[in-house]
Amino acid sequence: MIIASQVTLKPDSVLGLATGSTPIGTYDELVELYARGKLDFSEIKTVNLDEYKGLDRENEQSYFYFMKKHLFERVNIPLASVHIPDGTAAEDERECARYEQIIHDLGGIDLQLLGIGHNGHIGFNEPEDVYERKTHCVELSERTIEANKRFFASEEAVPRYAYTMGIGTIMQAKKILLLASGEEKAPIMKQALLGPITPKVPASVLQLHPDVTIVGDEAALSLL
Ligand code: F6R
Repeated sequence: MIIASQVTLKPDSVLGLATGSTPIGTYDELVELYARGKLDFSEIKTVNLDEYKGLDRENEQSYFYFMKKHLFERVNIPLASVHIPDGTAAEDERECARYEQIIHDLGGIDLQLLGIGHNGHIGFNEPEDVYERKTHCVELSERTIEANKRFFASEEAVPRYAYTMGIGTIMQAKKILLLASGEEKAPIMKQALLGPITPKVPASVLQLHPDVTIVGDEAALSLL
């Protein structure tokens, strides 16, 4: 497994992590390997792609809470080594600059895990006219709100804004692992990987990265 090898070969790796349904099985496997004594996270550092604006860490819909539940509290990673944008930050610009600085100070991301949105978003980089390079605050698209409402009591409860690493932040990762599952991701996987490189399909930029591994089930990769 790619992440497990990364942790074994470089025990102080900086891992870029994602939330959503797709990586849950990946985190379960890492936890399982840890429980069997095969992995040690004590020197690992993590940076997550994104966080909803307005949600604090204790909020069950926050990405911090998700990461704690699915990975952080199940392995021996010190909480001081995990980083996620602060959804309660008072000033967007300051929070985004702080987050970029953290990634920079860690020496950059060794391996970035990504899922893909139905509209081709990576992190919360939504389809736009230009690529946003650095961590920024983004207004979520209707498509994303619609897709993510399943985690909330109602559509109205889904935050409208989020902090996300930029396309430049993601592209600077040394290695990228893109996960996709389910047939509803098949059309966007085809567009992103075989179509033109355009900020209208944010994941298409991955065609320019020198070290991307794609792992998907048959349904998600069926049009490739
Ligand atoms: C999550 C993230 C998003 C998701 C994407 C796919 O941190 O950055 O880009 O990876 O929305 O979500 P799922 O896996 O729920 O289909």
